[in-house]
Amino acid sequence: MKISIINGPNLNLTGKREPEIYGTQSLESYFTVLAAAYPDVEFTFFQSNIEGEIVDEIQRAGFDADGIVINAGAYSHYSLAIADALRAVPAPAVEVHLSNVYNREPERHHSAIAPACVGMIAGFGPDSYRLAVEALDSMHNS
Ligand code: DQA
Repeated sequence: MKISIINGPNLNLTGKREPEIYGTQSLESYFTVLAAAYPDVEFTFFQSNIEGEIVDEIQRAGFDADGIVINAGAYSHYSLAIADALRAVPAPAVEVHLSNVYNREPERHHSAIAPACVGMIAGFGPDSYRLAVEALDSMHNS
């Protein structure tokens, strides 16, 4: 099974950025452990701060991978372009967030991309990604 993990703006700073919200572990180090825990899954990891590059990666990975795990960062809340890209490809996508966006500011309560995803996981720190991988894995095997 192939899973593409796509991260949006500022997620490259996870571990250093607002650690009281996003924790102190870098996503790079978390993904090393995640990949080791799923030896049968072929992962690709992508991060960009640029909306169009995220759209390009969804278009690329979405015809190749069996599933997409996407944390579009702030774009999650307003990017119709990312939502359209997710709808344009066959791979099912799970929206993830490190923080529980629903106990934060009201502008983070809306997701533009959730309607284009099979589900959403938020609030478990980096473990949100593992839970999304679990969900895609069991969907794939059922
Ligand atoms: C985030 C939540 C977003 O509201 C925020 O803009 C981010 C990170 C999260 O993972 O909790 O950049 O997607």
